[in-house]
Amino acid sequence: MGERIFVVGAGSMGSGIAQTFATAGFDVTMHDVKKEYVDAGFGRISGPLLKRVEKGKMTTAEVDAIVSRITPSTDFGDAQQADLIIEAVFEKMEVKKEVFSRLDAVAKPGAVLATNTSSLSISEIAAATTRPQDVIGMHFFNPAPVMKLVEVIRGSLTSDATFHKAAAICTKLGKEAVAVNEAPGFVVNRMLVPMMNEAFNILMEGVASAEDIDKAMKLGTNMPMGPFELADYTGLDIGLHTMETLFSETGDPKFRPSPLLRKYVRAGRLGRKVGIGVYDYRSG
Ligand code: CAA
Repeated sequence: MGERIFVVGAGSMGSGIAQTFATAGFDVTMHDVKKEYVDAGFGRISGPLLKRVEKGKMTTAEVDAIVSRITPSTDFGDAQQADLIIEAVFEKMEVKKEVFSRLDAVAKPGAVLATNTSSLSISEIAAATTRPQDVIGMHFFNPAPVMKLVEVIRGSLTSDATFHKAAAICTKLGKEAVAVNEAPGFVVNRMLVPMMNEAFNILMEGVASAEDIDKAMKLGTNMPMGPFELADYTGLDIGLHTMETLFSETGDPKFRPSPLLRKYVRAGRLGRKVGIGVYDYRSG
């Protein structure tokens, strides 16, 4: 495929993005700070692929070929060879800036430096580098190997060349890119996350049970998952963080985080990843 890809972060989005590129034939390096995190990322990749083997949708040879295109790394220096670097670390501006300043020091000239942030400012992340023209948002959706969309987000100084390179790569991945100018929550999360937030308000007011709110949205609007199933799937902490960003960036009370969402996050009810969110997954 030509381009070499370096993914920073082997969590659910980072590993899903690495898998997406490897499935499309790219050589990928998947980086995290500790070997155990990288190993866990490989587990998140092989698990769903082996389920596809069980269903007769893939062969083990195909799975092996995908996994073998992904090189593990705990050394930032490995980013030196990459044509495209995608960061998928914590949704904290200070962490992102630190990553981009380190990438700036090692990446080759002209490499595209992309962030998978779901709502933070691309311009502010880019300002941590000496090459803001090469920095762009490439926002994948969970599960990245399945979801068709990538929001390609221009920061204030992103060049047209960088935008076109990022959009062309989405096409090579078999994804559809939409062009977005930086704004809090971009397009999808500005609408989707407030909808999920409102579900928490509806539950808090006792209007309907969690099960019935999910059922209503699935059967009434053909959503594949109800808002609480989706919140548990993507992480309540991620949803709360997006609401806080929308609220603080705009000052608009329509983006006020639901007190019930806040309460669940404070209780550690973060969703499937910890076994309990709106629903309890611990017994089954
Ligand atoms: N790798 C490869 N294939 C995978 C996979 C993975 N990680 N996960 C699922 N699949 C495949 C399955 O093998 C299956 O393939 P076939 O149809 O060929 O059998 C297909 O995807 C569907 O999966 P399942 O049969 O297991 O389950 P499902 O039909 O219930 O679909 C789902 C699961 C795709 C997650 C579906 O429920 C869905 O689309 N949910 C909504 C997801 C969504 O809205 N995501 C966006 C979240 S918002 C976000 O991400 C933004 C943010 O910043 C927080």
